Amino acid sequence: MSCPMGHGTGAVTGTGAGDTPAPGGEAIVREEGAQLDFSKDMSYGDYLHLDKVLSAQHPLSPDHNEMLFIVQHQTSELWMKLMLHELQGAVAHVAADQLPEAFKMLARVSRIMEQLVHAWDVLGTMTPPEYSAIRPYLSNSSGFQSAQYRRIEFMLGNKNAAMLKPHAHRADLLAQVQAAYEAPSLYDEVLRLMQRRGIAVPAARLDRDWTQPYAADDGVKAAWLEVYRDPKAHWDLYQMGEELVDLEDAFRLWRFRHVTTVERVIGFKRGTGGTGGVSYLRKMLDVVLFPELWALRTEL
Ligand code: HEM
Repeated sequence: MSCPMGHGTGAVTGTGAGDTPAPGGEAIVREEGAQLDFSKDMSYGDYLHLDKVLSAQHPLSPDHNEMLFIVQHQTSELWMKLMLHELQGAVAHVAADQLPEAFKMLARVSRIMEQLVHAWDVLGTMTPPEYSAIRPYLSNSSGFQSAQYRRIEFMLGNKNAAMLKPHAHRADLLAQVQAAYEAPSLYDEVLRLMQRRGIAVPAARLDRDWTQPYAADDGVKAAWLEVYRDPKAHWDLYQMGEELVDLEDAFRLWRFRHVTTVERVIGFKRGTGGTGGVSYLRKMLDVVLFPELWALRTEL
């Protein structure tokens, strides 16, 4: 019997001894009725536009290890794309008081972040001489200029006008980053939700200049304490608080693994984006996204 592709007889030849067929092989494909002719239907590669995705790796150096560097960044950007998609959905659901949907999306964002934390292990196999071989080809390009990363930071409340500048030459990207800069963050939306649920939040935190980074507030801490002191009475807000802590926890780990990997690979050399390198990334470890949710733990 011919296989659907019209190749050969479909006979299983086994392992060479002529008796037991090897696991897998043509027999399994035939028995399972797998679709093999894609001359008319959409295939896996068509659906995923793999021609485009897999032809987007263009090493500039002759060095073998540059492929790792490119793939690591591109896969991170793909995961960031999904993170943004989920974060945007979560913010919209919080604003619409649809918390179960928002929880589902936020849980996914945290798992993506964890996935990116583990991804540093792959890049950690790059040694200093390997990186030095490709460094001259990178010019000033740096993750610092990642528009998607900046949108995530802004959506999580770490606003900074200076971070708009790297995108000034790309009107399309600038518009997206600017929109995130000007919009209420996820945390801002959660505080408005708390107010709607009858937990008093200071007015200055409910309507403010959203372009300003979030600053810790005793009134907001008191609001969260009300929730955490009686979880049963405010179960979904309590769950929201923990979802946010989960997310920030994973983000902190990502920042930490980044700076450690960078120190391992380039030591204390300056970054391609022009900062002091490790010194800049260490400062970023001090960023706190949802300050009251951390501060209240001391008081419980
Ligand atoms: C060996 C590999 C890497 C090195 C040596 C490195 C180094 C650096 C340095 C020194 C900075 C500070 C800005 C600068 O002066 O360039 C930075 C920022 C950044 N890098 Fe990396 N990095 C590496 C891999 C990655 C990867 C795989 C990603 C994933 C997308 C990434 C994302 C970022 C982001 C988003 C920033 C901005 C962080 C912020 O502003 O808080 N980096 N990197």
